[in-house]
Amino acid sequence: MCMCKFVCLFAIFAFATCGGYTGQLRVSVDCMEKASSNLSIGIDFAYPFRLHQVSFEAPLCEGMRRERVALIGDYSSSAEFFVTIAVFAFLYSLMATIVYIFFQNKYRENNRGPLIDFIVTVVFSFMWLVSSSAWAKALSDVKVATDPDEVQLLISACKIQTNKCGSVHGPRWSGLNTSVVFGFLNFVLWAGNIWFVFKETGWHKGAARYPGGAPEKQAGTFNQQPYNQGSFDQSGGYSAQGDLGQPSEYSQVGGPTSYSNQM
Ligand SMILES: *[C@@H]1O[C@H](CO)[C@@H](O)[C@H](O)[C@H]1NC(C)=O
Repeated sequence: MCMCKFVCLFAIFAFATCGGYTGQLRVSVDCMEKASSNLSIGIDFAYPFRLHQVSFEAPLCEGMRRERVALIGDYSSSAEFFVTIAVFAFLYSLMATIVYIFFQNKYRENNRGPLIDFIVTVVFSFMWLVSSSAWAKALSDVKVATDPDEVQLLISACKIQTNKCGSVHGPRWSGLNTSVVFGFLNFVLWAGNIWFVFKETGWHKGAARYPGGAPEKQAGTFNQQPYNQGSFDQSGGYSAQGDLGQPSEYSQVGGPTSYSNQM
């Protein structure tokens, strides 16, 4: 968890920008009889984007009568899934940092810490990808559903040609666009972290030790035995072979001794 500070920070950005979002759009309904017009109807919505629960009052352009109009769609599942993953990723990376720093011994005990860390990191990487994708899709739908031009279509008075409806302003999307970017950034970060956590598990060493570790051991015995053998074999006349090493003819001559060394 060497990248933990980034991981924590980026997770916070992801759920803060999405979970803390509030947006507003504003439309105008200009009735033929001006008295009943409302040129500034504000419609507020927020996380978790249960738009079907967001309603506003619009003039019917018939005297002072009004109607209650609701937006369409429920995007709470994707939004809440995204924020939940971000919150849990934040909590996990925070906890992992604490464990890693203060309980280093426990972490390494039986290799259990690195093992759990590895599995959880893989799962979170996958979850970041899924939740960010789902949230990106939901956001594009939310943008359509809260587009003032689309919202006008829901107002009865706007269906009558003589009344004029218009959009005053749409919602600001920078915050939510940022949350999607941070979602995918978190995926990249966690997926990249898999390698570092994997190294902690020591599996790659274990895999490399069987082919790579055996020569290491041989090298160890090599270093010890020639000294012993040097004292025994001094009379052999080939005592210089250890220094030469490279020439192929000599290596054949050296063959028997090096073979016996390996034993
Ligand atoms: C226009 O609609 C808003 C709600 O967005 C309301 O607060 C306001 O009183 C309305 N204005 C008129 C003139 O009816």
